[in-house]
Amino acid sequence: MAFADQFISSSTPGAAPNLDPRIQARDKLIVALDVPDSASALPLIDRLEDTCQWFKVGLELFIATGPSLVQTIIARGHSVFLDLKLHDIPNTVAGAVRSAASMGVRMLTVHAAGGPTMLGAAREALDAVSNPLTLLAVTVLTSMDSAEMNATGIDRTATDQVTLLARMGVAAGIRGFVCSPQEVAILRKLAGPAGVLVIPGIRPAGAPVGDQKRIATPGDALTQGASYLVVGRPITQAQEPAKAADAILREMAEAIRQLQSA
Ligand code: C5P
Repeated sequence: MAFADQFISSSTPGAAPNLDPRIQARDKLIVALDVPDSASALPLIDRLEDTCQWFKVGLELFIATGPSLVQTIIARGHSVFLDLKLHDIPNTVAGAVRSAASMGVRMLTVHAAGGPTMLGAAREALDAVSNPLTLLAVTVLTSMDSAEMNATGIDRTATDQVTLLARMGVAAGIRGFVCSPQEVAILRKLAGPAGVLVIPGIRPAGAPVGDQKRIATPGDALTQGASYLVVGRPITQAQEPAKAADAILREMAEAIRQLQSA
């Protein structure tokens, strides 16, 4: 399967392929709920749920709310990406993967820097669960540049470090990755056309960059090979979050239309 073929097949297992770029765009946009508690998250979900399918729950919100908010979002018919960026010994990570799968989340992150044995244990933990989820290895955080990496003792460029970690992940049986827009084309080659590439650091043209250092527009990220886009502040801090999400979905649909006709 060529990468562009992803855009003419459904990403929902068993569902009929839907060629509508707008519907495909909706299934590829993940809204990052980087808010402190349910009282902030629920009104955002209320405003976005007609427009968006996916929500990402990260450390801040999960530590505050535990599984109950995740279960509420799933019960409302949405898909949850649990972004806990697990990084611990293999046995502990494998147990955490099983717990996440039992909650019904559809994606979960582990740090590739945890090493091949940890990644292998995380993948093997999925063999025993009835709710399969996509395990995503985080390569290098999009807030890290070469100076930040040097400060942690890594002398490679971000791109070389991403490549090294991704090769290691693929060898450990991982097929999903989180990476910056700048590495998506490289990772698409390493992970193959069926690899799941989830890309944060997305900024519509003219949007504030914030602390992100390696960014791309929604359309460019999809064209380069992204499977899913993670967007936080450009949607959640907009005056009208649903309108901001809709503008991003329109840009994504246009990129998908172009990929379909390529
Ligand atoms: O607000 P913004 O669009 O920058 O949010 C990006 C989201 O993606 C945040 O939730 C952040 O934790 C997450 N993320 C990231 N870089 C990674 C992995 C996840 O920015 N490598």
